Amino acid sequence: MKKGIITAFALSLISMGAIAMEPPAKSNTCVACHGADGNSLAPNFPKIAGQHAAYLEKALKDYREGLRRNSMMAPFARDLTNEEIKALAEFYSKQTPK
Ligand code: HEC
Repeated sequence: MKKGIITAFALSLISMGAIAMEPPAKSNTCVACHGADGNSLAPNFPKIAGQHAAYLEKALKDYREGLRRNSMMAPFARDLTNEEIKALAEFYSKQTPK
């Protein structure tokens, strides 16, 4: 149900042209903190829109492997596969920072 709402929200953003490409499946958990397009609404969550894909990929792997520690972020990186990380990094790198 919750997933349906998020999907509907994401789809409405796409149809409004706010998001240029369809977000990867795993991004539905990131939305709460980083926003649908990586532009976080709260200053304590970093904006990830428009950052370099290689940087985002490294950051996510570092959280997953415990090289970069953050109690809020780590649980969301822990179960990501390399493919999922690549898709997420690519998606957010293509969003426009606001
Ligand atoms: C509960 C809130 C929360 C969720 C959900 C969350 N994050 Fe984060 N994220 C954070 C916080 C807080 C930081 C900053 C941590 C730090 O200082 O290292 C962060 C940092 C990051 C960074 C590093 C940004 C930088 O500028 O170095 C990336 C990349 C990132 N998150 C991606 C994601 C992705 C992709 C997801 C979904 C799979 C996600 N996050 C889910 C809270 C969250």
